[in-house]
Amino acid sequence: MDGTPTVSKLNNIKIGKTVSEMISNDDADELDAVRTYNDAIKLAYEVTDEGSVDLLTKILKMEEGHVDWVEIQRAQIEQMGTENYLANQSESQAS
Ligand SMILES: [Fe+2]
Repeated sequence: MDGTPTVSKLNNIKIGKTVSEMISNDDADELDAVRTYNDAIKLAYEVTDEGSVDLLTKILKMEEGHVDWVEIQRAQIEQMGTENYLANQSESQAS
């Protein structure tokens, strides 16, 4: 491969000031990743590149797991409130 990677066109990183903002930004990024990998898998099918389809499908499943994780965090924050959510996170990190 003679190409040069283009790293100047990376997506902006949005972090957020509050936990809810962080979770929302992460959710948007994970959903964007799922869309991007689905598009890449579609293209790999079109050019009959089965190796790329297999690899991209594995990565897609990981990204779908990240979307699930974000939804769980969002539900926990809604149900227990941010303060209790953070206390719960701290407790699980300490043990
Ligand atoms: Fe992810």
